[in-house]
Amino acid sequence: MQSSTLPVIVILALFSLPYAAFGSKSSHLCSDDFLHLEAYVGMNERQSTSCRKLTTLQAQFAWNFYRTSHNQTQVNILIGTKMITDAGWLAWGVNPDLPQMVGTRAIIAIKPPNGSSPFVNTYNITKDTKLYCSIQPSDIGLRVQNKTAQHITGTGFFTISATLILPESYNISRLNHVWQVGYVAEGFEPMVHSKTLQNFDSREILDLNTGQCQNIGHNRRRLRKIHGILNIIGWGTLMPIGVIIARYFRLYPFKLESWWFTFHYSCQALGYILGSFGWGLGLLLGHESKYYTFYTHRVLGICIFGFATLQVTQMLAFRLKPTKDDEYRKHWNVYHHFLGYSLLVMIPVNIYQGIQILKPDNTTWKWAYNGILVLLAMVVLALEVYTWTKFLYQRKGQARQKTGQGSGTSPQADQTQQKTDNKGSATSPQTDQDTSKQPISGS
Ligand code: HEM
Ligand SMILES: *[C@@H]1O[C@H](CO)[C@@H](O)[C@H](O)[C@H]1NC(C)=O
Ligand SMILES: *[C@@H]1O[C@H](CO)[C@@H](O)[C@H](O)[C@H]1NC(C)=O
Ligand SMILES: *[C@@H]1O[C@H](CO)[C@@H](O)[C@H](O)[C@H]1NC(C)=O
Ligand SMILES: *[C@@H]1O[C@H](CO)[C@@H](O)[C@H](O)[C@H]1NC(C)=O
Ligand SMILES: *[C@@H]1O[C@H](CO)[C@@H](O)[C@H](O)[C@H]1NC(C)=O
Repeated sequence: MQSSTLPVIVILALFSLPYAAFGSKSSHLCSDDFLHLEAYVGMNERQSTSCRKLTTLQAQFAWNFYRTSHNQTQVNILIGTKMITDAGWLAWGVNPDLPQMVGTRAIIAIKPPNGSSPFVNTYNITKDTKLYCSIQPSDIGLRVQNKTAQHITGTGFFTISATLILPESYNISRLNHVWQVGYVAEGFEPMVHSKTLQNFDSREILDLNTGQCQNIGHNRRRLRKIHGILNIIGWGTLMPIGVIIARYFRLYPFKLESWWFTFHYSCQALGYILGSFGWGLGLLLGHESKYYTFYTHRVLGICIFGFATLQVTQMLAFRLKPTKDDEYRKHWNVYHHFLGYSLLVMIPVNIYQGIQILKPDNTTWKWAYNGILVLLAMVVLALEVYTWTKFLYQRKGQARQKTGQGSGTSPQADQTQQKTDNKGSATSPQTDQDTSKQPISGS
């Protein structure tokens, strides 16, 4: 039973992770409740309107436009997001230079905490804004008409609608637009937004004609997914399986001679290789994102790679230069197990850290990894129960035969000794007795 469970875990992991990363690619069409908003319906009645879900902050965006006689474009927009807090702000703007916050000519709607109706104004976002300076309503050098903000209590949508006259300098086939959501505001002044990936990726280059967009974070998001998959499979699945094999199949309850080592070694080696690629990709991502660092995730990631590298180099050193020095080997075993078990703690913690960063689009990731952990835990539990049952059963048998011949020579008897000494400790019964003689003699 147990030997068939491991492949199942691997298969499940392989299938559920790509789904977490790529399968949940929901359509870009707006949701029904957005399409039923009064503002959208009215807009669509007057002129055929395009609508898209934006990639971040659960925002949806509808627009239509026509060219005026002076080579200008009149654009009607509607942007909405579900506002969960009782106060906050929603911003949308265009940027004549680049798809970024600084330089954006924004329309910001503020929802005051006292429940009165929201107010909406235009703001010129500059470098100073980014340095935590205040922003006050101002002229933005564009004609903005009929700007309204609404909070629809039924669906929870908070929306801005407006009409802009864009001069020729804005290329409507490549319109840089930016949106943002914040939860604190004082009077007319929005306070700084959260600093999550979502808040940084909320900008794109949109083609108003076709609705096609070039999202700024697109490439990076794909790298993040590959980073997540490699790390979950490498560190999070293969390495624990390797440990399970070493713990339960080396001596007790199953003794699989040199077989266990081949499997242990290949799981660790493959896990290490995949994990290292994932780790390198993580470093690259961290290097690229000059705006933010995820400190805990980074430090833990570096520790994991460092510890694992120590494990692997030690292992290689032993295989190249087998030594029979028992004292040294005993110390090495303790150290090998210590590093191994601390890795087993750090890895899931850091995987959950990473999943946390993807908030709020991380539910599939969370469940995929929860599933892997639960399966691994079930296998360990089953093997542990089996180990103890076998052990207790054998001891009873031995006690019955005690009067007969001495039983100190069989491996099971050694096992028994060890077990009674180690009762309740985290390491396995067979731990620390000639762990690495097997691989060397077996290879
Ligand atoms: C309320 C005052 C605001 C403050 C203090 C503020 C501050 C910041 C800071 C510190 C960053 C981190 C990136 C960096 O350091 O370069 C950032 C990024 C960003 N913010 Fe704001 N922000 C504010 C309002 C807004 C508004 C109103 C918008 C939308 C119109 C917006 C959109 C963005 C975007 C898209 C990014 C991503 C990085 C970039 O484009 O530069 N922010 N903001
Ligand atoms: C509009 O643009 C075209 C070329 O892009 C130009 O020939 C024409 O003079 C412009 N018209 C006005 C009113 O600016
Ligand atoms: C808005 O800020 C930019 C600098 O980011 C400045 O060049 C521009 O003149 C400002 N526009 C208005 C209308 O104040
Ligand atoms: C703004 O709203 C008024 C009244 O609803 C309407 O008459 C006018 O056409 C609107 N302007 C634009 C540019 O949509
Ligand atoms: C606007 O962008 C499109 C697509 O990149 C490009 O082909 C076109 O020449 C641009 N128009 C202007 C006026 O810059
Ligand atoms: C709510 O707060 C805004 C500004 O924060 C203020 O202008 C408005 O009068 C307040 N409304 C009520 C009903 O207190």
